[in-house]
Amino acid sequence: MSPRDDDERPPPRTTKRPPKSTTHEVPDRDKRRTSLTSTAPWGSTMVAGDDAISEVLADALEAATPEARDALTHGFHAYPARMHSETARIVLHALAPEDAIVLDPFTGSGTVLIEARVLGLRAAGVDLNPLALRLAGVKSRRVGQHARARFLETLERVGDLSEERVQNRVASLAPIPRYEVSWWDGHVLKELAGLREEIVAVEDDDEREALFLVLSAIVVKFSRQRADTAVEKVERRIRKGLPTEFFVRKGHELADRWARLDQACPDVSPEPRLFRGDARDLRNVLGPGLHADFVLTSPPYGGTYDYVDHHARRYAWLGIDPRSMRASEIGARRNVSEAADGAERWETELGFALSSIVEVTRPGALVVLLMGDGESKGERIDADAQLERLAPEVGLEPVAIASSPRAGDRREHLMALRVVP
Ligand SMILES: C[S@@+](CC[C@H](N)C(=O)[O-])C[C@H]1O[C@@H](n2cnc3c(N)ncnc32)[C@H](O)[C@@H]1O
Repeated sequence: MSPRDDDERPPPRTTKRPPKSTTHEVPDRDKRRTSLTSTAPWGSTMVAGDDAISEVLADALEAATPEARDALTHGFHAYPARMHSETARIVLHALAPEDAIVLDPFTGSGTVLIEARVLGLRAAGVDLNPLALRLAGVKSRRVGQHARARFLETLERVGDLSEERVQNRVASLAPIPRYEVSWWDGHVLKELAGLREEIVAVEDDDEREALFLVLSAIVVKFSRQRADTAVEKVERRIRKGLPTEFFVRKGHELADRWARLDQACPDVSPEPRLFRGDARDLRNVLGPGLHADFVLTSPPYGGTYDYVDHHARRYAWLGIDPRSMRASEIGARRNVSEAADGAERWETELGFALSSIVEVTRPGALVVLLMGDGESKGERIDADAQLERLAPEVGLEPVAIASSPRAGDRREHLMALRVVP
């Protein structure tokens, strides 16, 4: 076990910081060398560009152990292509200025925001999907001992009331559209609807919101969908009362995770700000007053996931209408992988997102992107080459890169670029 696994608190922020980069040269792909510290299961990590920064990037890419990934509140709720928490922590710790406002324009479940909080950094997150922002909000919340105790009382009360409903066969209406109904057994649907009605009745806004996300964390498990990542239908025998038991258990898990996060945060650890909107329009989404001093983000990997569709079972339970989101999702599998113009479309979408990031980021600041190779019509889209191509067009200059092989012939890249002063 590495020292990082033993202790979730970060080391003091002054010890590991590498010297600031002095070079603005485009990384020369021929000069890549094999990292001596490589532990990647599919081969060696390759690095290029500024020596100190590329070593940080390689460490961050290789530090992605499964245990650390789910530490603190990170593992509370499924989310596709979550960034590894250690990757975020190492990059922020080593490269973000101490007084920085960190921006993650593709926030997802909030990994970067949580790790920024643990390091005492100010952070802002943007995502298209309200589910992502609501989840990131609950996961990055600091909840002290008394508030956790009150939350657990409310959770137990909601659990008891739901159990009574099940025993007394109280009618509850599931607020989901007709085309979604066949994803649950009738009695499960009724029990989940009862749980939801009890959550809606909770008076405290923060507790109610957290309980909604606890419900969201369990609805796929009790549906006929095979798994979060596998949409085919399966038959499951679920006894009455089991969804409520799981709900209560999951709520306890959240409270335990909150306790760990609270302990890991320094006294001063600002609450992240969350903005709903399109990452290609950050100036409007963030408003005129907010400029980032450091960006760490993982945009969608081209043609790999349909993020909006991925959470289809959850939206109705949370009162979210997914229709408007689909059109604005970039890099979606449905648009990039199968469409004849998928690769060009992805290049344009990513170009607009990068240009929008540059618009809201201070000149000279670093933008660190975690990106996997994309895929269109069976052809791999090399994400590193794509970023090097787009960078000069949008006012970024590549500073350093680390690339690790992943399953199949894909690679994952962590690339640092500087906003051209
Ligand atoms: C790779 S995931 C980010 C995962 C995140 N780093 C985490 O650890 O959970 C990409 C995110 O981009 C979001 N997204 C896709 N298109 C977007 C757009 N046009 N504007 C803002 N967010 C978008 C998706 O909703 C998804 O949450």
